[in-house]
Amino acid sequence: MKAIVYTKYGSPDVLTAQEVEKPRPNDHEVLVKIHAVSVNSWDWDRLRGKPLLTRLEGGPFKPKYKILGVDIAGQVIAVGKDVKELRLGDDVFGDISGCGWGGFAEYVCVPEHALSYKSPSMTFEEAAAIPQAAVLALQGLRNKGKLRAGQKVLINGAGGGVGTFALQLAKMHGAEVTGVDSACKLDLLKSMGADEVIDYMQEDFLQRGLKYDLILDVVGSRSIFDFKRVLHPKGAYVMVGGPPSRIFQLLFLGPLISITGKKMSILIHKPNKQDQNMMKELFEADHVIPIIDRCYPLNKTAEALRYVGEGHARGKVVIRVVFPPK
Ligand SMILES: NC(=O)c1ccc[n+]([C@@H]2O[C@H](COP(=O)([O-])OP(=O)(O)OC[C@H]3O[C@@H](n4cnc5c(N)ncnc54)[C@H](OP(=O)(O)O)[C@@H]3O)[C@@H](O)[C@H]2O)c1
Repeated sequence: MKAIVYTKYGSPDVLTAQEVEKPRPNDHEVLVKIHAVSVNSWDWDRLRGKPLLTRLEGGPFKPKYKILGVDIAGQVIAVGKDVKELRLGDDVFGDISGCGWGGFAEYVCVPEHALSYKSPSMTFEEAAAIPQAAVLALQGLRNKGKLRAGQKVLINGAGGGVGTFALQLAKMHGAEVTGVDSACKLDLLKSMGADEVIDYMQEDFLQRGLKYDLILDVVGSRSIFDFKRVLHPKGAYVMVGGPPSRIFQLLFLGPLISITGKKMSILIHKPNKQDQNMMKELFEADHVIPIIDRCYPLNKTAEALRYVGEGHARGKVVIRVVFPPK
């Protein structure tokens, strides 16, 4: 099968398209013919081995997994003998970060617990755009942030993969949402219902003098003390992503600050089939749509990663492995 392989950390230039052996499912796995796979900023970090913290999990000197890509959508084409639910021909999608990665390829073996049925009303590209980004947004707002109707919510990094899902979820729950991102993404945020938008290059949201009930932070661009200042007394700050220095700051000081009533926490990614299914239901009910900036063919995966890594993407970028018939 064709796969995009890397054996050392580096720029997208270290990726090569290779013929590798097609995997065979063990008793608890299914073999998925991948139709589409989306790119996450996590792929970008794992490609470069930066920040160094990513090497704790990804391999200290060279990558543990040779094929990146975690958010897949495709069709089941072989089934292990102990698989209970999935059948040949089922269309599925899911986050395979907990089971060996390997999405930038034509086929991958996956334990069935990681996969949800794709809705017939979704394209494979839409399904591939959902798992990690949408579940991070959902878990950040619901589990950590305890989002409620009428709250004032600020999303820092609202125009990327996680942020575009978070904005739609927050609006669906009746929140008043301010989206912060770069100028080229603000029209998109408004079109998705953002009540206020802020270009972070032009304006410092701290200077508005406003307070928020919930801040979902995808980028960790400010000190947690800055975010604390613009929280209501019982407000919550949830960090989804950020540089290691900010993550450590939050891990050590967050619990202390939280004693004062302002809850400062970090989201730890947990792939979750129920949450994937919930996002599928919200898609079917027209509450949430994946924002797909652009699609690349598998052999242009390096280009796709570069585009995401350089921060250009509005919403998600998807790799199309199988092209739908014209
Ligand atoms: N918590 C976990 O367990 C876990 C798991 C996986 C991933 N993550 C993290 O989750 C995040 C994934 O986010 P994503 O996929 O949404 O990334 P993304 O698509 O790259 O989106 C980030 C957005 O933030 C914007 N941005 C950059 N600097 C900013 C600033 N100073 N202020 C406001 N906005 C800014 C970017 O726009 P411009 O580039 O145009 O400025 C971009 O639109 C990453 O930080 C990743 O490390 C966390």
